[in-house]
Amino acid sequence: MNETSFHAYQAKAPDTPAERVTLGVDDLTGGDLLVKVVYSSLNYKDGLAMTGYPGVVMTYPLTCGIDLAGEVVTAAGGFQAGEQIVLTGANLSQTKPGGYSQYQRVDPEFVVRAPKRLGTWGAMAVGTGGLTAMFCVMRLQKAGITPDSGPVLVTGASGGVGSYAVSILSRLGYRVEAVAGTSGKEEYLADLGADTVYDRDELAGEVAPLGDERWAGAVDCVGGSPLAKVLSQISYAGSVAACGLAGGQDLPSSVMPFIIRNVTLYGVDSVFAPAEERAEAWSRLDELFTPEEQRAVAHDEPFDKLPQLAQEILDGKIRGRVVIDVAG
Ligand SMILES: NC(=O)c1ccc[n+]([C@@H]2O[C@H](COP(=O)([O-])OP(=O)(O)OC[C@H]3O[C@@H](n4cnc5c(N)ncnc54)[C@H](OP(=O)(O)O)[C@@H]3O)[C@@H](O)[C@H]2O)c1
Repeated sequence: MNETSFHAYQAKAPDTPAERVTLGVDDLTGGDLLVKVVYSSLNYKDGLAMTGYPGVVMTYPLTCGIDLAGEVVTAAGGFQAGEQIVLTGANLSQTKPGGYSQYQRVDPEFVVRAPKRLGTWGAMAVGTGGLTAMFCVMRLQKAGITPDSGPVLVTGASGGVGSYAVSILSRLGYRVEAVAGTSGKEEYLADLGADTVYDRDELAGEVAPLGDERWAGAVDCVGGSPLAKVLSQISYAGSVAACGLAGGQDLPSSVMPFIIRNVTLYGVDSVFAPAEERAEAWSRLDELFTPEEQRAVAHDEPFDKLPQLAQEILDGKIRGRVVIDVAG
């Protein structure tokens, strides 16, 4: 592989698995910043895109991979050749060519410099999940929720975002309560720093307009009626950062938590978060996590194995985080 000829995985049509293709730099159309991609990551959404699941990739042909990290080849947008950069979300693998390409052109708007300690590998190990969790925590902190405010709940706690939310909050000194679906997650979540682990049943059943005041804040990855139930049990002037819909997109709540308890519900998006917020979040993650710790939860897989890995993540056969060694 060299700059004139390199490999990528491209979705060519809906309902069709992505193909390995050979490209040249002149084939790249994603933006002004030419990057030698060193690492990418494997997410559920990547599994869907790589296997041809409709509705993820919006335009064809399109290079898959929602995250990328690597080295700037030609200066653009304030970045110099040789700088290590990270790009997550930003519609990669949806409408913009993504990270499953050994070189890629990207729009510099959402690009950030790689966190110093985590580096490009560590950033891909943390991935979109960790970044989204940090955005949620930053949102709660900006709302004034401190460890002294009271416990903070995390829903969907054993998932990619939820696990990092538990870990970040715990490292920042919060008392963390977690809701997890399948039994046997208690030890895993306790190791991450959860003080209490509830079964999903804790948030099941009818939603009362107001319940006991139990949590100063919450990071919600689930949506649906569990989120409504959380809102009804947030303490006076508490806040919820909602980022997901793993349990549904409805919100069968009432206005009571907002108008009686001064509760605030914040939405959190990481896909189009501005570069300054991304840089702040990566810097905060860099203070909290080391690459060595990430080695315990993430492992490398070769670029050539992507078609197999994509199916495995959909089949629930992947454990921990996977960093794709794009450069080989
Ligand atoms: N806003 C953003 O920018 C952004 C970024 C990344 C992800 N997201 C969204 O955030 C959510 C979490 O992402 P993720 O990467 O953490 O996904 P994930 O790894 O699949 O985890 C989701 C977790 O939600 C729980 N869950 C699944 N189905 C559920 C159900 N029916 N009812 C209640 N809980 C359920 C499960 O945790 P337990 O077994 O522990 O309950 C699961 O591990 C997803 O909806 C994703 O689309 C949003």
